[in-house]
Amino acid sequence: MPTLDQAITSLQQQMNISGEKRRYISAAFQREMGKGLVGEKSSLKMLPSYFTNPSGQEKGIFLSLDLGGTNGRVYLLELLGAGDFKIREALAFPLKGYDQKSAGFYDFTAPSATGEDMFDFIVGKLKEIIRQDIVYSLGLTFSYPCNQEGPDHAVLLSWTKEIKTAGVVGRNVGQILTAALRKQQVNNVTLQAIINDTVAVQLAGAYGQPDCRIGSIIGTGHNSCYLETTGNYLAKPAIVNIEAGNFDKLPFTMYDQELDMHSNQPGVQLMEKMVSGKYLGELVRLIVLRFSEEGLLFKSFFSQLSTPGIFSTQDISKVLGDNTKELKTINKLLIQQMGITTSAYEERLGVYKICHAVQKRAASLVAASYLGILDRIDCSYGSHVIAVDGSLYNKMPGYAKYLNEALGEDIKGNIGTVTVKAVQEGSALGAALAAARPKY
Ligand code: BGC
Repeated sequence: MPTLDQAITSLQQQMNISGEKRRYISAAFQREMGKGLVGEKSSLKMLPSYFTNPSGQEKGIFLSLDLGGTNGRVYLLELLGAGDFKIREALAFPLKGYDQKSAGFYDFTAPSATGEDMFDFIVGKLKEIIRQDIVYSLGLTFSYPCNQEGPDHAVLLSWTKEIKTAGVVGRNVGQILTAALRKQQVNNVTLQAIINDTVAVQLAGAYGQPDCRIGSIIGTGHNSCYLETTGNYLAKPAIVNIEAGNFDKLPFTMYDQELDMHSNQPGVQLMEKMVSGKYLGELVRLIVLRFSEEGLLFKSFFSQLSTPGIFSTQDISKVLGDNTKELKTINKLLIQQMGITTSAYEERLGVYKICHAVQKRAASLVAASYLGILDRIDCSYGSHVIAVDGSLYNKMPGYAKYLNEALGEDIKGNIGTVTVKAVQEGSALGAALAAARPKY
């Protein structure tokens, strides 16, 4: 039986994505992009949007609706031109939670709810920030894979991020939203655009920076998009939603396989399951559980660790942010969250190292995919901005650093500069820009 140190070293080796592995992964990513574009079998869907980069001249007041993971947000947003904007009103609401008025729990992400129920609820929220005497243009950021059949016509291909709302897959979400607006007599709001959140981030990034040709989300879910300009695949240049989270040419460990097996949809979104917030906490739990089973960590707390979801991705952030000498934050988290009432310093350090290995691999894999996209759009790596939004990139200690380090290593020695730009409120700004722009 290995010691804890040996087991951690072996895990670090399995999780290590060297520069060579990254180049291999990025080449595979690029190949899958090419296949997806011409409609060949590929793990990358390559879904064209109806939008290109903004001019920077867009101005005016717009409504944005952001439907991401388990939260929705409505905004009244003013575009001021050249990258500048002002949020005039914002309202965030969970899609599952407790409703004070009816004194009951609701869950619009469960199969017991329909798309109509969900959009009725959202329109109710929208009504809280609009006036009846003003006419509004609305942009919807909808963060799921859709076949775009028009700027305001997006057919949901499948739910991701474990959402299960009934009766939406295969339908135009724009039509469900518009029907909900009219049902509640909201006749002064017109849906102008539906975009993926990656497209929203790219539009937001490019609003003040025309060199922005890649948009990406690293939050609850993961995905990227880019500006496809070659005339061979599309009638006109357009931003293409890659659906990068479904990429599957990756070095999986047994922990990844186990996580996938117990997920809502095994066999899909395999990259997302290795890099994003919905899954990383659970991945760490599975590793710690295995270590516990082998008597290497928290031997007498095996049953607590057996509960799925007991360790979240936010917990990884807490662990990685623990700068105390005795790792007191980790200790507190183990006690309060997981009922692990006693732990040795070495065990806490073990948890830290596991979180670190999982995080570093995630950042490195995302960097490999960016390299694949860069190779496709400009293999000499001129000046490019990659706009990124999402809680992991913006908030998890170390994620942005490791991603930038890996990317820097990969493009070292090339001309031009590649900058990763953190974008805040990308979904809201992007939806407003999409609603404002002349259509494709
Ligand atoms: C969805 C993408 C989305 C990403 C980030 C994934 O689960 O499939 O469409 O862009 O999450 O929110």
